[in-house]
Amino acid sequence: MFNTVCVMCHGPEGTGNGPAAATLNPKPRNYTDAAWQASVTDEQLKETILKGGAGVGKSPVMPGQPQLADHPEVLDELVQIIRRFGKQP
Ligand code: HEC
Repeated sequence: MFNTVCVMCHGPEGTGNGPAAATLNPKPRNYTDAAWQASVTDEQLKETILKGGAGVGKSPVMPGQPQLADHPEVLDELVQIIRRFGKQP
């Protein structure tokens, strides 16, 4: 799912440089930013993914995935993917 939906904006390396990101303002979050990784909890990440940017006071360009409320395992895996980007050197 990350590779089909999220990569468009967040990019294959999680740096926020996906093909659809060029025209976005603000830019998608750079997941490799250690300071940002430390500033958000897993719960906050899940809430943003579920509700989208508009639901949590961020950019409305970030689309919500409310259907994942019924698929917590997918939500957990997306959070793990985001956390892995933060651990890359
Ligand atoms: C249409 C482009 C787009 C798509 C598709 C998209 N995002 Fe985003 N995303 C954004 C933008 C833009 C932001 C920055 C919002 C802000 O900082 O105001 C963002 C922010 C986020 C954040 C919040 C970072 C923070 O500041 O707390 C998370 C988590 C996230 N995206 C995860 C995902 C996941 C997981 C997917 C796939 C299911 C996804 N996004 C798909 C554009 C997108």
